[in-house]
Amino acid sequence: MHILAIETSCDDTSAAVVQDGRRVLSNVISSQIDFHQKFGGVVPEIASRKHLEAVELVIQEALDRAEMTFDNVDGIGVTYGPGLIGALLVGLSSAKAIALAIDKPLIGVHHIEGHISANYIADQSLIPPFLCLVVSGGHTYIVEVEDYCKYRIIGKTHDDAAGEAFDKVARTLGLGYPGGPAIEKRAALGRAIIEFPKPVIRDHPYDFSFSGLKTAVLNYINTARQKGQVIPVEDIAASFQKAVVDVLVDKAINAALEYNIGTIAVAGGVAANGALKETMDEACRRNGLRFIHPQPILCTDNAVMIGSAAFFRWQRGYISDLFLNAEANIPLQ
Ligand code: KG4
Ligand code: ZN
Repeated sequence: MHILAIETSCDDTSAAVVQDGRRVLSNVISSQIDFHQKFGGVVPEIASRKHLEAVELVIQEALDRAEMTFDNVDGIGVTYGPGLIGALLVGLSSAKAIALAIDKPLIGVHHIEGHISANYIADQSLIPPFLCLVVSGGHTYIVEVEDYCKYRIIGKTHDDAAGEAFDKVARTLGLGYPGGPAIEKRAALGRAIIEFPKPVIRDHPYDFSFSGLKTAVLNYINTARQKGQVIPVEDIAASFQKAVVDVLVDKAINAALEYNIGTIAVAGGVAANGALKETMDEACRRNGLRFIHPQPILCTDNAVMIGSAAFFRWQRGYISDLFLNAEANIPLQ
């Protein structure tokens, strides 16, 4: 089963060909970061226009690299939400047009289900159940993947997503967009010597809150400024990153142990973070858990993960019709 997959939910135009949900035949990503950087974040209107300019070329490139034509495509996988509505519509409309023209099934994929499915590529032997820590720009979840296409949310954020916290702190430190990679780079040059608070949410041991941490960093910077001190950007980056990573790893490990799940996977842009990977790897080893992590290019937005998720949805009979609409917000189910 060769799935042509399309992902345009945010600021990457991506298309890929994935065989049987596990084998990557091509992965093309056209990033728009350069166009958004000067605005300090993604501008939805620009995102839609840039997707429109790129999408046809990106799809053709994905087919070319897989040495395929539309004739060999067995199904079209596409992200239909959540994400920026105008951006999603570009990918979804293209997918529908192709599905109609070549008379092959259209398979709508939830963006977060896509992120989780990157782990089926990272480890070809991975089969559910497993626990997945989902940490992207818009979402933070601890999810039990009970079966293919079957998820139970164990923990979620009460305010900012993990990636959002990275982006906001980076902006405060003047490190630009996207914040995660910039913080990681600076953190490598600093020491985690500043104690930032680690929020505890009573009665919800697996939920997160990052807004307090963000405020604490802001207060630290303002106080230093008022005192006329030099802002220790590297140390702040290292301390902030450690605070986020520690809380993510602690909660994921505790959830795996309590729910008796032997494997932890990670997903989403923040999962590209080296410190998160190292800390999780060590904690999993200590607790006798298996740890799976996609390579960085499969953590941030890409169409490969959508192609993998689409295969498992298709296998279970979840085929979409041409009335499928883009959704800015939809729960993972
Ligand atoms: O999954 P993703 O590419 O897009 C969404 O679905 O949101 O995640 C993007 C987020 C951004 O907030 C970005 O700052 C963060 O992932 N990110 C990172 C790293 N690379 C990307 N955060 C920490 N460390 C990184 N290396
Ligand atoms: Zn994403």
